[in-house]
Amino acid sequence: MEMKAFSLVDESSGSKARISQFGATVISWTVRGKERLFLSEKAILDGSKAIRGGIPPVFPVFGKATSGPCADLPQHGFARNHLWTVKHKDTSSATLRLTPTELSKEARNAWSYDFELLYTVTLEGSKLTTRLEVHNRDTRDFEFQTLLHTYFRVNSIADVHVEGLNGIMYKDKVSSSEITERSEQVMCTSETDRVYPRVKDTVRIHEKSQVSIEIQREGLEDIVLWNPWTGCEKMGDFAPADGYKNMVCVEAGAVSKWHTLSAGKQYVAQQVLAARL
Ligand code: BG6
Repeated sequence: MEMKAFSLVDESSGSKARISQFGATVISWTVRGKERLFLSEKAILDGSKAIRGGIPPVFPVFGKATSGPCADLPQHGFARNHLWTVKHKDTSSATLRLTPTELSKEARNAWSYDFELLYTVTLEGSKLTTRLEVHNRDTRDFEFQTLLHTYFRVNSIADVHVEGLNGIMYKDKVSSSEITERSEQVMCTSETDRVYPRVKDTVRIHEKSQVSIEIQREGLEDIVLWNPWTGCEKMGDFAPADGYKNMVCVEAGAVSKWHTLSAGKQYVAQQVLAARL
């Protein structure tokens, strides 16, 4: 499949974004001429696999469900590996849409609910807003999880810390344990894969003690912190091999529990990323 992608520009500030219709994935966001997102040099952009980098949206399951209605779906669900349609687009904003019509037979069979996802990407000055509306168009209630799997580009992971997670008991997926965070400056110094539930504070990514990105959230109360470290060598679509030093995933999500969406209702999950440096 040929890559279907388009660009947005905020003419007053010159900030730009590029969006792949496959997986509704923002693959580039530049502010003041600087790239803010990490995209693997080996990311597969032809629609045969979810894109390794940028902001792939995760829906209706985070990770792999072992039981329940999402059990037959692949890891992180179907939103990131289907072709979305463009519902609206102007210079600095676009809305993409995904419904059962766009799903593969396998995905429809695995998750049979009627739904509509509307994903709006808006550039405004040094901010990028990504807003996912989940509409339940079915006569049955359904349960879901969702997450915006943002890969941030950083100059050096050794100079990066994340603020806003102190005091939270997180699930450490590397050691399969629960640990209470005791730092206002959380760093990745080895493989990191953690789910911080119910994060109240504003989360900020610092580089060399300066705020580089601020993340505001609505409907996305949890934060996943992920860096594969040298384990990225085992991923066929991750390059360069030391690219883990130039990325950190700080993922705003609704993932630590299942969210029930009643028939006919909608849920809004939004993040606003503000580039400070
Ligand atoms: C993170 C998960 O959100 O995504 C990790 O917490 C996972 O466990 C990572 O490894 C990448 O997932 P994938 O399916 O894109 O390789």
